Amino acid sequence: MKFFVDTADIKEIKELNDLGLLDGVTTNPSLILKSGGKISEVTKQICDIVEGPVSAEVVATEFKDMMAEAEALAKIAPNVCIKVPLTLDGLKACKTIRTELNRMVNVTLCFSANQALLAAKAGASFISPFVGRIDDTGADGMELISEIRTIYDNYDFKTEILTASVRTVNHVKQAALIGSDVVTAPPATLRALVNHPLTDKGLAAFLADWAKTGQKIF
Ligand code: E4P
Repeated sequence: MKFFVDTADIKEIKELNDLGLLDGVTTNPSLILKSGGKISEVTKQICDIVEGPVSAEVVATEFKDMMAEAEALAKIAPNVCIKVPLTLDGLKACKTIRTELNRMVNVTLCFSANQALLAAKAGASFISPFVGRIDDTGADGMELISEIRTIYDNYDFKTEILTASVRTVNHVKQAALIGSDVVTAPPATLRALVNHPLTDKGLAAFLADWAKTGQKIF
């Protein structure tokens, strides 16, 4: 499973990339706002750090304007993946960006299996179902990931399932068990995957015993 980080924070991206944990980055207009930078500059900086897909989102809502924005975003770097919303105009833009610009497309704001089916038919490289926001409504976001996995496997769609709006380490585990291709999570959630109290306890015990030996490895 690939790990993307869901942030536009350059420092966080650098640190996670140095750990060797990053396969890509997702941003959205809210994350760009939080970064305090210009979308073109922030996206360029991220693309200089991470080799994998870096999603940058269009903000137009009509096809023609979406295409103009997609062309501008595509010029930033070869690994920019154009993010479009799951609307009819967004799906049309997805198809056109894939065929005419030959760029990766991430179709975002997916909340139903039928929406994911449409994105696959539009040739999306990634579909982003927002599990955390579904959980917020009282429904089960992970059920949607399962449904999409079944549908994509039924028809051998190549669109990758990018589990998004991840809030907990359990979301990551469930996504991996279901067979999501990618998970995008905030930096803190990615880091928290390493935590286990027995690891901490075991390490403390080993180090205490090692100190008693009075030895050095070299
Ligand atoms: C995905 O690409 C989105 O940027 C993101 O996962 C949204 O997460 P949120 O629901 O925590 O804002």
